[in-house]
Amino acid sequence: MELIDGKAIAQKINAETKAVVAELKARGRVPGLAVVLVGEDPASRAYVRSKDKMCQELGMHSVKYELPATTSQQDLIARVRQLNADPAIHGILVQSPPPAHIDERAVIESIDPAKDVDGFHPVNVAKLALGDSDGFVPCTPLGCQRLLIESGIETAGAHVVVLGRSMIVGKPMALLLMQKGRGGDATVTVAHSRTRNLAEVCRSADILIAAIGRPHFVRKDFVKDGAVVIDVGINRVDDPGSPKGSRLVGDVHFDEVAPKCRAITPVPGGVGPMTIAMLMANTVESCRRSASRGA
Ligand code: GUN
Repeated sequence: MELIDGKAIAQKINAETKAVVAELKARGRVPGLAVVLVGEDPASRAYVRSKDKMCQELGMHSVKYELPATTSQQDLIARVRQLNADPAIHGILVQSPPPAHIDERAVIESIDPAKDVDGFHPVNVAKLALGDSDGFVPCTPLGCQRLLIESGIETAGAHVVVLGRSMIVGKPMALLLMQKGRGGDATVTVAHSRTRNLAEVCRSADILIAAIGRPHFVRKDFVKDGAVVIDVGINRVDDPGSPKGSRLVGDVHFDEVAPKCRAITPVPGGVGPMTIAMLMANTVESCRRSASRGA
């Protein structure tokens, strides 16, 4: 069994990104990312901080807005429009999910698609579906695909089961894997909580991508011998034995599943660091595109 070291692969990609940032800077361009968080959810705050910190490490410009939970949709959209117009900003990310009184779709649609480094805007979703490579692809599925490529795991002709159908991971993951070319050409099944004989469907996978958002959901009877398992889940569970009283676990019951696998990602240290690495890469790419447009 091979442990796929997402942290090490992300570090390699971040080093490449840092070199591109330096080149752009030498030409007077500094890639800039704006991250907007509404509300006080502790996990979201931690993510937003780690994105901000990574920008600094790579030499990028970054701004972070932590807005109160009472922020109106109108004020949030006004902030997004300001960032759309700001030439120092190439990427805009509004942390999901926002508080219940905010219509997330309306906020996403207010982001300039050329700065939508999350790939959530309908224009970018359509470009992914069309196979048009000048859009942006959501960072988590892009990171999963990159993990497979960097680990030498062939997707062409493989049966990949994507467990989960969210707009952030499951749906774009399936679209990416069925594209033609490197990291694609897979036979894709999208399974979810309503799938009949779910364990059996998952067991038919050569590559299983778990993104269902439930701790330890994937047990050993879901996995074929010699399969590759990518665990997208980040679930905080109670753990009275740990200093914090809780710990992070994936959607996969790692101890049970790992011995059956050809390769598997750990949680933490698997997909998580790749998501941030892809966000940085998308932001730098956005800056590069704006430079070539002469903006
Ligand atoms: N919440 C969980 N994952 C993501 C992500 O990739 N982008 C944003 N904006 N919010 C998220």
